Amino acid sequence: MAYITQNFSGLPAPVRIGLIGSGWMGAFHAESIARRVPGAVLAAIADPNVESAEALARSLGTAKVTGNAEDILADPEIDAVVIASPVRFHSSLIAQAAAAGKHVFCEKPAGQGLEELDAALAAVEAAGVHFQIGFNRRYADDFQAAKKDLAAGVAGTPQLLRSLTRDPGNGSIPHAARVPAWTIFLETLIHDFDTLNWFNQGAEPVEVYAVADALVEPGLRDQGFLDTAVVTIRYSNGAVAVAEANFSALYGYDIRGEVFGSKGMVQAGRATETAARRYTAEGMSADTPRLNVELFRQAYTDELADFADAVRAQRDGVPSSSSAFTLTPGAADARRALAMALACIESVKQNAPVAVPGLAASAAVGGRAGA
Ligand SMILES: NC(=O)c1ccc[n+]([C@@H]2O[C@H](COP(=O)([O-])OP(=O)(O)OC[C@H]3O[C@@H](n4cnc5c(N)ncnc54)[C@H](O)[C@@H]3O)[C@@H](O)[C@H]2O)c1
Repeated sequence: MAYITQNFSGLPAPVRIGLIGSGWMGAFHAESIARRVPGAVLAAIADPNVESAEALARSLGTAKVTGNAEDILADPEIDAVVIASPVRFHSSLIAQAAAAGKHVFCEKPAGQGLEELDAALAAVEAAGVHFQIGFNRRYADDFQAAKKDLAAGVAGTPQLLRSLTRDPGNGSIPHAARVPAWTIFLETLIHDFDTLNWFNQGAEPVEVYAVADALVEPGLRDQGFLDTAVVTIRYSNGAVAVAEANFSALYGYDIRGEVFGSKGMVQAGRATETAARRYTAEGMSADTPRLNVELFRQAYTDELADFADAVRAQRDGVPSSSSAFTLTPGAADARRALAMALACIESVKQNAPVAVPGLAASAAVGGRAGA
């Protein structure tokens, strides 16, 4: 039976999404799609760990479960996929999904290297499907408000930018030995790189210098494990940025962004879980956010709502209801941030500043008077 894009109420048919990878992040996205994203349906889940995918599907009322992502890609009733598998599968899954005509939301990073990512993005382009990367911070209220201020020129010409990630921890990192190499750049700081690029709109990252170490788990230093990093970034407009990350903040999940410029400063980031404060003989205290899915619950929902909206608009040939203010991180954003993460890896290996690959020759280091 042909897939009907309008139901009898006159409302558009829901966007039918297949989830590929139902681990920590995928399971949360599954719940968001099934319970919180209007006009979207979680139609199927693919995960080689079929047992846990089935348990998730049962809890959310999802009909189809498979151990093989190809089943989702071959399903004519599925409009779009959300990819939340391990990173090493991302580029090939994006390419396969696009070739199958599915719109793609992919968790970050969209690939492990620029060559495989470029092939995937070429497949997206050739198929004409919608592509979104999971840079969820853009959807957080405070980051959006900061972006609007920056677009209005509140900070003037950017001079210094800062973005940081402190993941929650208890002073040691469980399963640290199994964390893939370079995760701190490819999966953690890549969020910060996107925030900095988004805040410094119109400028290109030209050069990075990354310093990283195992300070939480020094016993794993010899194996190349990294849990702490600081990156300085030079941009084509002359601005200098710092991105930093650590995998074990005892006080919770701490995400911030800041732009300092010729006219002032704009900051984003929420230090407390709620606006409530406790005042006692010891002083003042407040609860802090503990997990990404607490701090960014609404942002994770809104990024998927934005995706579903864009897919519906493209599928049904109607204008998207997204706000006039563009948030959606797409192919160029995915590529730019990955190029920075890869340059950081090279920088650590060489212990030297490294040019960000893939930039036009005119944006070479030294050309700092630009835009
Ligand atoms: N945006 C964010 O804030 C955020 C937070 C955490 C993780 N992530 C990203 O989400 C992705 C997944 O991370 P995670 O922490 O959920 O990992 P995870 O290990 O918890 O889950 C990965 C899942 O993928 C499944 N899988 C393995 N191979 C597969 C394949 N070929 N096809 C389909 N599924 C497959 C595994 O069985 C597992 O269930 C990563 O890209 C990570 O960077 C994003």
